Amino acid sequence: MNEISVHNVEQELHVPLNEPERQYYYMDRAKEYLEKMSEAAGRPLTFCVTTFGCQMNARDSEKLTGILERIGYVEEPDEEKADFVIYNTCTVRENANQRVYGRLGQLGRIKKKNPHMMIALCGCMMQEPEVVEKLNKSYRFVDLIFGTHNIYKFAELLAVRMETGRTVTDIWKDTDRIVEDLPSERKYPFKSGVNIMFGCNNFCSYCIVPYVRGRERSRDPEAIIREIERLVADGVVEVMLLGQNVNSYGKTLEHPMSFAELLRKIERIDGLERIRFMTSHPKDLSDELIQVMAGSKKICRHLHLPVQSGSTRILEKMNRRYTKEGYLALVERIRQAMPDISLTTDIIVGFPGETEEDFLETMDVVRKVRYDSAFTFIYSKRTGTPAAAMADQIPEEVVRDRFNRLLHEVQEISAERCAIHEGTVQTVLAEAVNDHDSRLITGRMGNNLLVHFPGDASMIGKFYPVYLRECKGFYYLGEIVSGE
Ligand code: SAH
Ligand code: SF4
Ligand code: F3S
Repeated sequence: MNEISVHNVEQELHVPLNEPERQYYYMDRAKEYLEKMSEAAGRPLTFCVTTFGCQMNARDSEKLTGILERIGYVEEPDEEKADFVIYNTCTVRENANQRVYGRLGQLGRIKKKNPHMMIALCGCMMQEPEVVEKLNKSYRFVDLIFGTHNIYKFAELLAVRMETGRTVTDIWKDTDRIVEDLPSERKYPFKSGVNIMFGCNNFCSYCIVPYVRGRERSRDPEAIIREIERLVADGVVEVMLLGQNVNSYGKTLEHPMSFAELLRKIERIDGLERIRFMTSHPKDLSDELIQVMAGSKKICRHLHLPVQSGSTRILEKMNRRYTKEGYLALVERIRQAMPDISLTTDIIVGFPGETEEDFLETMDVVRKVRYDSAFTFIYSKRTGTPAAAMADQIPEEVVRDRFNRLLHEVQEISAERCAIHEGTVQTVLAEAVNDHDSRLITGRMGNNLLVHFPGDASMIGKFYPVYLRECKGFYYLGEIVSGE
């Protein structure tokens, strides 16, 4: 591990060695330093965290925000005005990387005009050595670079940067540590993501996540329950349990526990109304889990079950460890236990060696399962993954054509699926004032569909029975049913 030690020995003696105490110590130190910086600037200094990528990254950003607010930074939503800009990056597909470089160039120009400005980069992209090399060479104005494994050390790294004025780069290859009880600032007061595990051991052959997020490790169930109880006491009614493969939760714990067992425990938390989770890997989705879901009053009737491809031949090359038939049989079992379940998926088009026949198998699965929605991706070659070295990468125009055909199919089916609820009354969690019309509230049903209905900001975070008047393709217009 490449830890930085730039303090003199005298200071080091006072630094706690245990976590999270050590980080709280550094938060205090950064706070003192920030006060001096603010005095010099004659105003409070501001920050802006921009998240790229998945919900795991979004949750990490809440932790960064929690630390920054404790230090005394004030949130500034406009990145161009902020004194401290943090990019929490994603590298799952090449275009995610390109976006970061593009925006970073622009940020460099802004930094020239603001002497107080600092820039930090963290997240999955930083775990790739060639990225850090490029940053050190061509983006020298970046102040702080760290990765996914030492994100809990943010306060310490920031304090070192503030006190030394030097660029700090700290990337670890892997870790088995999970540091609990650090601050975090939620984006929504009424719902929250909760990590239940980190990393991934599946090594799907196209995917970079296991390389940048490290080996799979589960949080202790007690720590998860404690966090959710605290969240509920603080007004949270819905949690989203997060992991790359939640179905394999608990396998590596000292006292192994299944994901279904964890769900049973979480279900018992009073005051918690809705439980969601993602992502489920089809190979590990147990009948026990289906039973627990079917018997639960709190677990939402929604399952995100990435299929990636409908061709057994391609699935094997992807190292997904299920077949087309196995997947369809699983969907059948799920639908039998929960006929009203909403199913969503991820699909990759243009994996190396994918033929027209393979692609038609994917279309066949889409037609058979009839997903409520699907994220469709063009295969992106990730350096270091087995698929990147496979022969027979598919020409761009062939992939484009398949992608368009798939998208058309997926959209048509999801519009039809969405419409089946028209005319029913559903329990809806009011989430936000509508972006386009402030007289409307946007709410979410258990199946994850959105509905806009008349209301005001005071309703946010509460549940309402809403009549779904009109389906608009992938969302609804509705109104609250009174006197329920
Ligand atoms: N752990 C989750 C997925 C995490 S990545 C799972 O296994 O389902 C989210 C999605 O990005 C994946 O489901 C996959 O569809 C897509 N993806 C991952 N690597 C990709 C690549 N190299 N090219 C295109 N899409 C990719
Ligand atoms: Fe990537 Fe596969 Fe792990 Fe999902 S399960 S993160 S697709 S390696
Ligand atoms: Fe991207 Fe990292 Fe998530 S690569 S998809 S942010 S785990």
